[in-house]
Amino acid sequence: MDAKQILKSLSIEKKLGLLTGYDNFSALKINDEPLIRMADGPNGVKTADGDSLCFPNTCLMASSFDKELCFEIGKMLGIEARRHGVNLLLAPNVNIKRNPLAGRNFESYSEDPFVTGALALEFIKGIKSKKVGACIKHYACNNQEHLRWIQNSVIDDDTLRNVYLKAFEMVINGTDVDFVMTAYNKVNGKQCCENEYLLKTILRDEWGYKGAVVSDWASIGDVVQALKNGLDIEMPCNYELTYPKLYKAYASGELTEQEIDEKLTRLIEFYNGISHDTNFNEEIDEQKLRKFTGESFILLKNDGVLPLKSDEKVLIVGSSAENPRIQGGGCANIKTKTILRATDEIMKQTVNAEYVSDYELCGITASDLKSYDKIVVFLSLDFGSDSEAYDRTDLSFPIQQITAVKKIAKHNPNVIAVLSNGSAVDLSFDKYTKAVLETYYAGSLGAGAIADVLYGKTTPSGKLAETFPLSVSDVPSYNFACGEDVNYAEREFVGYRYYTTYGVKTKYPFGYGLSYCKFNIDNVKIDGSGYDYEVSFDITNNSKYDGKETVQIYLGDESRFAPKKQLIEFITTRVKAGEKKSCKAKIGASSFSRYLNGTKKLLVGKFKIIVATSSEHEIFSKDIELNKDSFAPISRETLIGELMKVDRYREIAKKYLLKAINLWAFGDENSDKNFEDDEFLRNHAYGMPIRGIAYFSLGKLTDETIKQLILELNNA
Ligand code: GLC
Repeated sequence: MDAKQILKSLSIEKKLGLLTGYDNFSALKINDEPLIRMADGPNGVKTADGDSLCFPNTCLMASSFDKELCFEIGKMLGIEARRHGVNLLLAPNVNIKRNPLAGRNFESYSEDPFVTGALALEFIKGIKSKKVGACIKHYACNNQEHLRWIQNSVIDDDTLRNVYLKAFEMVINGTDVDFVMTAYNKVNGKQCCENEYLLKTILRDEWGYKGAVVSDWASIGDVVQALKNGLDIEMPCNYELTYPKLYKAYASGELTEQEIDEKLTRLIEFYNGISHDTNFNEEIDEQKLRKFTGESFILLKNDGVLPLKSDEKVLIVGSSAENPRIQGGGCANIKTKTILRATDEIMKQTVNAEYVSDYELCGITASDLKSYDKIVVFLSLDFGSDSEAYDRTDLSFPIQQITAVKKIAKHNPNVIAVLSNGSAVDLSFDKYTKAVLETYYAGSLGAGAIADVLYGKTTPSGKLAETFPLSVSDVPSYNFACGEDVNYAEREFVGYRYYTTYGVKTKYPFGYGLSYCKFNIDNVKIDGSGYDYEVSFDITNNSKYDGKETVQIYLGDESRFAPKKQLIEFITTRVKAGEKKSCKAKIGASSFSRYLNGTKKLLVGKFKIIVATSSEHEIFSKDIELNKDSFAPISRETLIGELMKVDRYREIAKKYLLKAINLWAFGDENSDKNFEDDEFLRNHAYGMPIRGIAYFSLGKLTDETIKQLILELNNA
């Protein structure tokens, strides 16, 4: 579909009407059918017929710390979307878990921006690999549900960029995400959908984002202002109210046809980039999904009672074993016809399991309890918590479930707690247990995965992507549900970045998780200098179980007022029983650049590279000296002089930029003169950033070309 041709054929009245949705979940109805058909994710395709699978919720997917797994699950979501005729999935949600009480934490990844961005990037690539669009949300600082429509996130620029925008930036730098959805709330007094700083200065000018920008549903105050400040389309349909305003703005010249065409071009280009093949018959590999689900569970405690043996006499306790909580509430909640039950799935693994649903344990005597080898208690937050539109008020499981754990432990020490929750919970009761398995909201096949893990068919390999604090009052943003203005006074000290800096004890730290395997990590090396390092190590699995281990790499930063530890990479690797593997990861300039006072700079000074198996468990570290003179991460802001003076960049820079420089210097892109021979021309050109010379290239140096140039230079 040629956008220019289409737009030429449309009246202005028609065009204006396309700037609002066609109905609740479709848009761009140029002829007889809306061309963009969207649906919520992120843990399934929300459709009326309800026959989509419910996938592991993002909180669980994040716990995998597995980029490949997230790519594969993204592919499955893409298949599901194609099966339902959906071409734009409203996912992923990359909002940072600023506070464990926030209602939509189940739907997002982590308290840490790096793991959020790294996994969301792979998830999006997976969706797009099926020629379905992805929409990253909610841009930005939608970190609570309390007053979300009017709430104002008051935040300093460095914290905004280094923590709350970082995942968006990583994704936009890493792939062509199709849509960015603006959040309901304000940032520093300006509604996100009308926030020119967010939508133009950062998203377009600095990051070079080429996709479209859509509002969150009905979140717009002034639709003309929003469109002027960077929004492309309002959702859902609000034609009756919006059209008159848009026509008036057009008629007065406030909104120009050129602006309108640019917006519609982005929507048409999106449509051109997705598949239109209707005979799609790929299926989801449910066994693979069930495996992914189980291996993402986090084993928080195991005093030798897991895995269970099929000849052990087991009692299953709790109604959520047969009526599982598989997902959070709100727009992400999908109807599904597939919900496995742990009671059924466990009884497929063993004939020695019995089940009692009520936590009161009516009719179960002390001697009954003593008669079992193991007792598995299923704890679950009630169906009202962990939802869009409101936050939790505390971290506790329902009291009758905890009472059951304590009562059972009095008569039988072998208590195993299986948890189902959307975000961090109070686990002060775990002293009454011998094992705790965190399963979060595990989707349609979750109960099967639980049975597989309990009986050792799958090794739980997940790590916490959020801290479980000892108390909610330990959380630095604990006062978040205050008035409209929410002050991000804790700055970058979110989650483990706070606890590790200020030495606050936690119940279970970020990055923590046990396994059935016994991993030995040795021969750790950190080689390199300046801004280029390689971390390598050997890992041996001294057990009879296949499993995965996640080694985390943190930047130790004590040279300034900043979080003492910041995750900069993680390596998740599968290691078979008895196998030994060598692993390595490159750490480059992007790991050492931060926004400082509004511009991205390279860190300078003394730091540490820390190799760890959680934010509180270091296994190796090396002091390093970062000195800006040795290397600069290339960006649109990099000066041409910096490129021309460094051998490994000079030829690449000339390949891409010399024609534009010649055109600017001599009016002839093929001039045989050398601009560097002229004092003025050399100094002027050398002082120009890459984005500057693009203006003189008569459109030949496109954003895409510059992105390619930067990529090639950064890999040089
Ligand atoms: C909701 C959510 C957003 C969702 C949209 C469409 O209010 O905030 O995540 O995609 O509306 O349902």
